[in-house]
Amino acid sequence: QQLVADSLFAINSFAQKFFADQLWNTEEGQNIALSYLEERGFNKEITEKFQVGYNPQSRYTFSRLATQNQFNPELLLKTGLVANRNEELVDNYRGRIIFPIHNNTGKIIGFGARVIGKAEKAPKYINTPENELYIKSRILYGSYFARQAIDKNDECLLVEGYTDVISLHQAGIENVVASGGTSLTTDQLRLIKKYTNNLTIIYDGDAAGVKAALRGLDMALEEGLNVKLVLIPDKEDPDSYVKKVGAGEFKEFVAANKKDFVLFQLEVMLKEAGNDVNRKNDVVNQVAETLSKINKAEDFTKQQEYIRRCSGILRIDETGLTNLVNKYK
Ligand code: GTP
Ligand code: MN
Ligand code: MN
Ligand code: MN
Ligand code: MN
Repeated sequence: QQLVADSLFAINSFAQKFFADQLWNTEEGQNIALSYLEERGFNKEITEKFQVGYNPQSRYTFSRLATQNQFNPELLLKTGLVANRNEELVDNYRGRIIFPIHNNTGKIIGFGARVIGKAEKAPKYINTPENELYIKSRILYGSYFARQAIDKNDECLLVEGYTDVISLHQAGIENVVASGGTSLTTDQLRLIKKYTNNLTIIYDGDAAGVKAALRGLDMALEEGLNVKLVLIPDKEDPDSYVKKVGAGEFKEFVAANKKDFVLFQLEVMLKEAGNDVNRKNDVVNQVAETLSKINKAEDFTKQQEYIRRCSGILRIDETGLTNLVNKYK
């Protein structure tokens, strides 16, 4: 097991160096990939820091070199960097920008590979398949580069994508990690909790972003995290927004639009319920269930405070809500 892991690390490290070399030192890399990154406003320092690379378009550039270097074909397949086509190894991320994904010690556990330009037929991103190193539910992209800043700020910002993390770093905001577009997992929340109790989720302001954020709330409360939410204005994400308004204004926007997650959820549900009494009753139950996730032994005051504020907003009796919360235990 350890041997397999070590071999996968060796292949990933070898691959990263190859992809970086292709990006910076070949005509194809410069013309197609580096120019695309520059167009999107990523500067050289940040591209280098995150070890971004490029996998050329030809079928065999990486696979041939890897085979020549005596890497085991089965392990190569496990990394997802190559695929088997008629008993032949071919490059899997042809013509894509490569974002390496690092573990907490800076070693590469996998990659995200993005098409250049608009994704028309092919998926926009291809990610490493699950293997001994790449366990999707435990990955927080950028954590290696964010740890010190999370510590210093006692706060972790959570965004959706690779490019959000990289752009925010470029803007000097370094306490940021990405969930990779999937809904948050308990393992990811536990990793964050090791660094800080304060999580600020910064998702796209569209319906999908709101939904994705809300799905993580109960879990986050169960892990004892204080969760705030910032929704980026419609049609933007943190990457595009910080590039549009600049670092200073982005920070001001985040500070001014940070909402308490519990109260935000309540607000969304109440808006949906309108004047319907039955639906308002569902809202009360949902709030009670959410508040029941707060660990009473550790966060008694926090739970009390929420019960007070939520019952005020709902215009219901505080003792009644307390009893309902306790029923959900
Ligand atoms: P850019 O378009 O390059 O700015 O990326 P983005 O991060 O803004 O993409 P998007 O908001 O669409 O998705 C957020 C994250 O979800 C990405 O960073 C990926 O981790 C993941 N993701 C997006 N599209 C795909 C896809 O087609 N396949 C897979 N496996 N993951 C995806
Ligand atoms: Mn998308
Ligand atoms: Mn979105
Ligand atoms: Mn996005
Ligand atoms: Mn984006």
